[in-house]
Amino acid sequence: MSRKERIIALKKARDATILAHNYQLPEIQELADVVGDSYELAREARNTHSSVIVFCGVLFMAETAKILNPEKKVLIPVRDATCPLADQLTPAMIRDAKKRHPGAAVVLYINSTAACKAHADVICTSANAVTVVKALPEQEVIVGPDANLAAYIQGKVPDKKIIAIPPGGHCYVHDCFSQKDLEAARARGGTIISHPECRPEVQRGSDIVASTGGMIRVVREHESVGAWNIFTEKEMGYRLKTLYPDHTFNVKDDAICKDMKKTTLANLLASLEKEQFEVVIPPDIMQKARGAIERMLVIGR
Ligand code: 13P
Ligand code: SF4
Repeated sequence: MSRKERIIALKKARDATILAHNYQLPEIQELADVVGDSYELAREARNTHSSVIVFCGVLFMAETAKILNPEKKVLIPVRDATCPLADQLTPAMIRDAKKRHPGAAVVLYINSTAACKAHADVICTSANAVTVVKALPEQEVIVGPDANLAAYIQGKVPDKKIIAIPPGGHCYVHDCFSQKDLEAARARGGTIISHPECRPEVQRGSDIVASTGGMIRVVREHESVGAWNIFTEKEMGYRLKTLYPDHTFNVKDDAICKDMKKTTLANLLASLEKEQFEVVIPPDIMQKARGAIERMLVIGR
């Protein structure tokens, strides 16, 4: 049996669902039951009926799946597949910001650790950040850990005061897009879609700003075949091309999330064989973080 066939057989035997983020390698996307953005995968994790979830993505995503499914076994094939953006925020930073802004709500990006989520009023993803912030009664909102996403929210919700923590929090994959990329894309032609994790000036120079799931919806709803410049992680080009083969997608070849690429067929197979690596979160953190994630699922769309 090939590795792929063994994964499919074991998935059935273990009663497992494989969830994969849009940035996963093509061979992982092909095997997954569901491929999506952070919001879609969180919702999917909550609705799945299987007893095991194997999360092909990074740790905060697997933690979110576990928090929403405390009774299920949630596995991540690579223990150290983390998100460097999520690791830029600590619970101490949130406590400090709350002291400085006692009346403010705390909205954390889903790209944050479970320990940080336990200090949030509500979680958001790039797909629903604006909706979540608008729905809150508070006029002051602490947003972390992505300062570019915070700037994006501020632009869409000008009547509220957005406080970004930490001040320069960013994702190295998205922060690498620049004016030069915008100029090259304009010279090439086609629509420019950037992710809210890109710098504000890159967002302003784009035609559309959207989450990875939002990018799929934009292309789906476009009436004719188009040419697109995709300003996010490179594998999004593969994802879009499989869905819309007639369209043209230009990506930046070095916009690569190293942690997303750690998941391979070999370690996915090992994960199913040995039921590794199980996501374990202390019960108190789990309970507090769940409230913030559940609130997002209610007000976030
Ligand atoms: P999406 O929710 O848009 O897929 O973004 C997740 C992420 O990690 C972006 O870098
Ligand atoms: Fe984190 Fe950036 Fe990778 Fe997304 S692309 S998982 S934000 S490091």
